[in-house]
Amino acid sequence: MSSRTFREFVALAEQQGLVRRVTKSVDVSWEPGCLAKWVFQALPENDRFGLLFDNVEGSDLSLCTGALGASRQSYALALDVEPEQINAQWENALVNQLKPVTVEKAPCQEVVLQGDDAKLSDLPIPTWTPGKDPAPYITTTVMTKLVDSDNQNSGVYRTLVRDDHHVVVNMNPRRGGHDQCETWWKQGKAAPVAWVIGADPAYQLASCATLPTGVQEMEVAGGLMGTPIELVKCVTNDILVPANAEIIIEGVIEPGERDTEGPFGENLGFMCEVSQKPVARITAITRRKDAIYYGMTSQMPPSESTMLQSNATAGMINKLLRHDLGERTICDFHIDLTFGGQMAHGIIAMTPQYKGHGMKVGRMAAEISALKRVTVVDEDIDIRDPIHMDWVLNARYNPSRDTVIIDDVYMRAAMDPSVEMIDGVKMGSKIVVDGTKSLPEDVFSLPPKDTMMKALESWKEAGLPEFDIPKRAQFRIDKS
Ligand SMILES: Cc1cc2nc3c(=O)[nH]c(=O)nc-3n(C[C@H](O)[C@H](O)[C@H](O)COP(=O)(O)O)c2cc1C
Repeated sequence: MSSRTFREFVALAEQQGLVRRVTKSVDVSWEPGCLAKWVFQALPENDRFGLLFDNVEGSDLSLCTGALGASRQSYALALDVEPEQINAQWENALVNQLKPVTVEKAPCQEVVLQGDDAKLSDLPIPTWTPGKDPAPYITTTVMTKLVDSDNQNSGVYRTLVRDDHHVVVNMNPRRGGHDQCETWWKQGKAAPVAWVIGADPAYQLASCATLPTGVQEMEVAGGLMGTPIELVKCVTNDILVPANAEIIIEGVIEPGERDTEGPFGENLGFMCEVSQKPVARITAITRRKDAIYYGMTSQMPPSESTMLQSNATAGMINKLLRHDLGERTICDFHIDLTFGGQMAHGIIAMTPQYKGHGMKVGRMAAEISALKRVTVVDEDIDIRDPIHMDWVLNARYNPSRDTVIIDDVYMRAAMDPSVEMIDGVKMGSKIVVDGTKSLPEDVFSLPPKDTMMKALESWKEAGLPEFDIPKRAQFRIDKS
């Protein structure tokens, strides 16, 4: 459990090689966005790192990206757990949420700029898909508040920088931020809003989760950290923001004011279409004196965005199935990193208790989520290993018997290119695959475990090169 600040996390990640410092000067209008693309498009997951740019042309502040979601290892470090404990940490946090505490003085308000002094061009805000995005985009947590209530929402909504004092926020109906703003607009009032940059890592990770209405990300963040998050009141509105954040941008959204947003490089791998979205006027920028600007990197998967959304979504569904629906024999849950993280392929490892149990759990997962494909396998499969997954689907899955197609499903992402838009609505379908074994027990074609372990000594004596036993091999040998 961790109550590390973001800058403490970045320092630790750098020590562990999970963040690399770039000291050469960079042009924020194209270089950081492109370098981040190379990290995610060229390097295998275990070799990826976040980037910390010390020398951004025209800015006194450094810029960081990819640090929280370069790999599962980075994500686990942000939560201060081992990668295998990520789902359990989420389950524990959702069950044991902690209310935040309020403080009067905060590092995020060491420097306070208001009115004309609060200029967005003073921040090193990148253009993420140079040549295709129309402007720099703020990609961080956006906080809103219900009118006449203390309930606050935190979600990551990309935000186009229109000029020094105005932005266009990609808030969509049926999302927490938009729906909270609407409660102000319905009363003819301007909705307060705050962009939180470089907050406590757990809070940033919690903001990527689609929580049930009313559940507050800041309380889940407390659960993830094992200690309440400290909040401070904004300077120009009543939103309470994480006190330890690096930078806060405060603003208001008048009812009905809209402007063009997009195109933007989406996390499904395509440029999204242009649409009309709410305009916010910036009322203040507050920050630490030597603030680090943090922007989450997205676009073509795999990306940081995929890593953050896959883990948050897996954490949520795993908790719903295990804790709320009593499916305690689920032992692992993974959402693949190839398509966004929310509408992708969910894979469940479990110990079925009766015939049809795997399919039942798979169908439940499909129904309670936006996942497009769900596959269920036994507990002896490494669900993050494509070789093991292919083996099990060839070995234990009979397509005509073990497949269910769920038809006429509302697809939330207007962007799913495989589904046709009819009368403004996308109705798609889902597939559930039950790859749990139908035979009582497999007898694997491997020597018994003790013989295999003894052979490791012979391997050593023979001077053959050292290796780490893959989880796939360990699972197989354990059952041999
Ligand atoms: C880098 C990044 C960018 C995102 N951009 C958007 C966005 O522009 N609009 C959106 O609705 N969701 C976006 N998401 C996903 C939401 O942040 C996520 O679904 C979150 O749960 C939304 O919060 P809410 O459920 O309170 O609405 C983004 C996520 C990440 C990690």
